[in-house]
Amino acid sequence: MPGILLGELFPNFEADTTSGRIKFHDFLGDSWGILFSHPADYTPVCTTELARAAKLTDEFKKRGVKMIALSIDSVEDHKNWSKDVMAYANEAGSPLPFPIIADEKRELSVQLGMLDPDERNKAGLPLTARCVFVIGPDKKLKLSILYPATTGRNFDEILRVIDSLQLTAQKKVATPVDWKPGEKVMVVPSLPDSEATALFPNGVTTKEMPSGKKYLRYTQI
Ligand code: BEZ
Repeated sequence: MPGILLGELFPNFEADTTSGRIKFHDFLGDSWGILFSHPADYTPVCTTELARAAKLTDEFKKRGVKMIALSIDSVEDHKNWSKDVMAYANEAGSPLPFPIIADEKRELSVQLGMLDPDERNKAGLPLTARCVFVIGPDKKLKLSILYPATTGRNFDEILRVIDSLQLTAQKKVATPVDWKPGEKVMVVPSLPDSEATALFPNGVTTKEMPSGKKYLRYTQI
């Protein structure tokens, strides 16, 4: 079964991109990374997504996350399509601020489980789905989200999960439903109360539950 699971080492693949040939781990260096795939160039939803990603470059940079896109078209197509993308982003003439991988043979798409069997090109070949992979500085997969070709992604949500991933990588906390940066977080269940009090100087509050079990512990970071 192709694909990659959370916690696995992300493959150190080699690929042709709009910025030349890369080896993925060298491309990432010590940074976090985000790889997002697209069904094809010159398609409407993909154009809106890449334009939004381009507009959010500073937000990804602020978080130390290197961006890279992928679709199954050629480097030349990617380069030409990027001009449309930047025009859609109201930045006509500027280069797309991140590379796009050209996975023309679909080798990487198969390896990473990215093909959507329900979406095919005119030749009947499957297109890539809208995958999001977030990779940590240890080169391990921290998050994957998979959308079908017909549903565009929400990049506010992608930034929000990166904020959660980066926070929970540093502190023994988890982020609750609909959490946004600055809101209270939850102490991880594995941390005993005695250690939680010492670790969180802003205090830990526990919500009373009908079960009497004290598992909903909040703190402010
Ligand atoms: C799009 O990007 O608009 C798209 C691509 C493939 C299938 C459906 C929509």
